[in-house]
Amino acid sequence: MSKIQILFLGAPGSGKGTQSEKITEEFHVVQISTGDMLREAVKNGTELGIIAKAFMDEGSLVTDDIIIKMMKERLQAIDCQKGFILDGFPRTVTQATALDTMLQTSLECCLTHVISLEVPDEPIIERLSGRRISPLTGKAYHVKFNPPAVNGMSEDGKTPLIHRDDDKSETIIKRLEVFHSQADMLKNYYKPSGKLHIVDGSKDPAAVYEDIRKILS
Ligand code: AP5
Repeated sequence: MSKIQILFLGAPGSGKGTQSEKITEEFHVVQISTGDMLREAVKNGTELGIIAKAFMDEGSLVTDDIIIKMMKERLQAIDCQKGFILDGFPRTVTQATALDTMLQTSLECCLTHVISLEVPDEPIIERLSGRRISPLTGKAYHVKFNPPAVNGMSEDGKTPLIHRDDDKSETIIKRLEVFHSQADMLKNYYKPSGKLHIVDGSKDPAAVYEDIRKILS
């Protein structure tokens, strides 16, 4: 199989992270999640983290200039040369045009697939309010749809799972509003490329992955 360079579009909680994990296991490409990168910066108390936290806590987008600078550096890393999944970037047309330039200049390549995971708002709210994250591995569980082996605990059975600050109900609503304000513009940006694939993300995770595999093969 030739190198894959995938971009996931989709609402918060549409399953971008869940599906990215399955793809990285099978296709051995790196997952680049801007959300994870920002949360790491927040955890480490860096200048970027301090600025980003205020936006993230209220469910708004971090400004384009900050994100574009962060991604320019990330895409130059050696691990991107084997292929990658972009999870959470770009989120605006400004970021999308910047990405095109980055890919051409840093990697002399372009995206191979743009996958839009589509899920109605109602199940999204249930997914996000029930999501719990392992602080040990970063893996996302769900209290109902994907519970951990030991109730409320990470993989070692004793470290409590985390409820993300932005997975509280009022912030979820704001994140969905922000998503819908950009979603059509982004899809329209990628439509002419012929690389945009719409995937029904409301099926169970294994069925969603099967649909994605068909697109990738
Ligand atoms: P980010 O971390 O990217 O959050 P997001 O896009 O809101 O996406 P999520 O990680 O919440 O959801 P997901 O689609 O990965 O779903 P998951 O697989 O976990 O961004 C956070 C913040 O950072 C933003 O609000 C913004 O402030 C900032 N930011 C990040 N990137 C930025 C950018 N480019 N520009 C500006 N700001 C940026 O699944 C969710 C839950 O559902 C899990 O519990 C899972 O187990 C469950 N689940 C998954 N699939 C299924 C299924 N098929 N059926 C049932 N349950 C399922």
